[in-house]
Amino acid sequence: MNNKSAPSHTPVLLPEAIEALAVQPGGRYIDCTLGGAGHAAAILDKSSPGGQLLGIDADPKALEAARKRLQNYKDSALLVNGNFADLQAICLKYDFFPVHGILFDLGLSSLQLNNAGRGFSFQQDAPLDMRFSPDQKVSAADIVNTASEAKLASIIRTYGEESHSSRIARHIVGERPLKTTRQLASLIEKTIGRRGRIHPATRTFQALRIAVNRELENLESALRQAVDLLGYEGRLVVISYHSLEDRIVKQFMRTESRDCICPPHTPTCICGHTASLRLINKKVITPLATEIKSNPRSRSARLRAAERITEQEDCCEVIDEPAFSTIIKTRGWRKPVLLQKVRTVFFAA
Ligand SMILES: C[S@@+](CC[C@H](N)C(=O)[O-])C[C@H]1O[C@@H](n2cnc3c(N)ncnc32)[C@H](O)[C@@H]1O
Repeated sequence: MNNKSAPSHTPVLLPEAIEALAVQPGGRYIDCTLGGAGHAAAILDKSSPGGQLLGIDADPKALEAARKRLQNYKDSALLVNGNFADLQAICLKYDFFPVHGILFDLGLSSLQLNNAGRGFSFQQDAPLDMRFSPDQKVSAADIVNTASEAKLASIIRTYGEESHSSRIARHIVGERPLKTTRQLASLIEKTIGRRGRIHPATRTFQALRIAVNRELENLESALRQAVDLLGYEGRLVVISYHSLEDRIVKQFMRTESRDCICPPHTPTCICGHTASLRLINKKVITPLATEIKSNPRSRSARLRAAERITEQEDCCEVIDEPAFSTIIKTRGWRKPVLLQKVRTVFFAA
């Protein structure tokens, strides 16, 4: 692993994630949330020789940091600036499927949190931005200064699970325009007061970040896409940091690991659903006390993993030998992915 340009983001649940992904030499993996590339570097190490990694991050700055960190793996890592909501399109574009494992390490990295200009933290004064990518149109300032009071209250209540959401929304609307993180944080502090050790603006900041980046919608969509990209026995591993995302992951994996999802007490199955996943860990995996002590940011982490139990769609086309050889030559495929590619190409054709 290259440690020269040591990133300031410490990967969370690292050995647990690598084990859950069942990383093997020669395997192909996708890190949907590349960040400082801590998990990615470990995946590349463990999948060597012959391993390949597609790393995705919405934040071009994260990608820059990851590129430095992974310079020793230039030939085996493909890094893409994009949103994991477009996971399938990205994999199709780069011809990167099926894969042995897909990792999501959700939320934001310490690199982003500590970067004063990004507006993720109220510890530093900065414009209310909070976008993972500069390509996104809506910033936190747009929501804070243009949303209706009812919409603001709903965002703060739903995504921040904040019980004082209506009061906070009313005061925001009364004081706008609000331009900076400190302005917003001190308004919230004045509105609901300070109790306990957690800053009163914490939940509202989380809510705005989730809304700005459409985090829950993107997660739901990406999980569905991820299952389709896994090969047989491929692993899906998700690390989440708050109950809203963990609930989505838990429900998704539970549903996809059941053959029937009819409402309880339905006399005979009418849903026709079949399981595509098997749960790896029935109980959620959380960090050990030693990890929380050395990296307090890990304290809320929850890891869930599942394995694909269905084959990819089979092709029913029959091709002759010359056509088959031409495909192999022109596409430069190597053995493990060959059969699947042939299936995919002809299935899609
Ligand atoms: C917790 S960090 C990942 C840290 C990484 N595992 C490491 O070891 O350094 C999460 C990263 O995911 C990125 N991210 C969050 N949502 C995303 C999305 N929808 N699409 C792509 N990247 C996203 C963030 O920009 C951030 O860099």
